[in-house]
Amino acid sequence: MQTHTFPNVTDAAEACGARVVELLGAAIAARGRASLAISGGSSPKPMYEYFARTEFDWQRVHLFWVDERGVPPTDKQSNFRFASETWLSPAKYPEANIHRVQAELEAKEAALLYADDLTRFFGPATPQFDVMHMGIGPDAHTASLFPGEPMIQNRGGITAAVWVEKFHQFRITVLPGVIAAAKNRVVLVAGEDKIPALKAVFEGPRDPLKAPAQVIPDDGTEWFLDEAAGKGL
Ligand code: 6PG
Repeated sequence: MQTHTFPNVTDAAEACGARVVELLGAAIAARGRASLAISGGSSPKPMYEYFARTEFDWQRVHLFWVDERGVPPTDKQSNFRFASETWLSPAKYPEANIHRVQAELEAKEAALLYADDLTRFFGPATPQFDVMHMGIGPDAHTASLFPGEPMIQNRGGITAAVWVEKFHQFRITVLPGVIAAAKNRVVLVAGEDKIPALKAVFEGPRDPLKAPAQVIPDDGTEWFLDEAAGKGL
């Protein structure tokens, strides 16, 4: 488990952002373009703001989401809206490269359309992102795979619409096979409320149904923690 620890969430998020940019640059150098999948939540805000002020050739980066809440893109819960306000609009991100989940639609249809978009971009094999950014919740969820979600055991699928009882909300999420297929993963975790989740993931018994972030493979993954989250390790 490759971990980097920083004094606070901003330092951790900006270091995570710098690593994402470095990995994207290598992918562009090798193949002329790169693919990035981002997660939502609040921790990534300083990372998105870092991207917005970084002079980078976003024309060569196709942007996708790891997951999206089952709400319209104008809703304040929307991961797309959050990234747009903090990064995509200020950076004038090329619209043609933004692969938004159409979460304003019925969730199952949105998941199918998103899988179609992924297949159009990556081809018939499992989508393999150059870089995937993940977060984890205090309950050790990642993406929108929450404890007890049967889709955690689905290794062959690409996307799913899942009902999240605790939020009384549908979400659209990529599935574990897509998470594992990514060439590089960065996981940004901040706040002492994440200590139990990190302990469950790093030190607990292997049980992804209870600690869904255990679907994140060790190889190819770098964890960016603030001291508050990392102090329990
Ligand atoms: C979401 C995310 C989710 C997030 C974690 C951490 O849509 O909420 O994709 O998996 O990464 O909940 O969120 P915080 O960064 O807000 O703690």
